[in-house]
Amino acid sequence: MDDTADPVFHLVYRSSVRLLPELRAAALADIFEVARWKNDALGVTGALLIWQDVFVQVLEGDESVVRTLYATIHADHRHDHVALLDAGVVGERVFGGWSMARVGNDHGADIPVEMDREVAAAAPRPVVTVQNTMLDAMREYARDAVGA
Ligand SMILES: Cc1cc2nc3c(=O)[nH]c(=O)nc-3n(C[C@H](O)[C@H](O)[C@H](O)COP(=O)(O)O)c2cc1C
Repeated sequence: MDDTADPVFHLVYRSSVRLLPELRAAALADIFEVARWKNDALGVTGALLIWQDVFVQVLEGDESVVRTLYATIHADHRHDHVALLDAGVVGERVFGGWSMARVGNDHGADIPVEMDREVAAAAPRPVVTVQNTMLDAMREYARDAVGA
């Protein structure tokens, strides 16, 4: 996608998972399948962190497209307590290679993150990139939600 000249708008929110434990894996697979297909068509990229009963999602793209998509996601009954954490124009896409990366500490994650901040601090990543900085922020947002 060659849109380097276009401003990139990003939006970050946090929400509470509302999925029955026995249906969770299938429901998440469904969310990712639809999200990737639709985001690809919309020129949206991003990442969805799933940890315990918390979602933290980053959406990147054209502002009106991202805001419209956020309104759809906000109304989705598979989560609740949807709270906007950050929104604005950023210098570049952080997850430009992903229509929707799955982030977490489970083995299904595209981008693994260590959710224990003490373990993470003891083994810092060798290279600090904007993506790593964003992933760290996502982890903190998720941990704040459970008061951890
Ligand atoms: C936590 C969560 C994240 C989601 N992320 C996306 C996403 O990135 N892109 C997307 O198209 N749909 C996403 N969805 C699904 C949307 O809420 C919606 O079901 C989907 O876009 C289809 O909407 P439509 O039938 O109105 O086209 C997400 C849903 C949840 C619960």
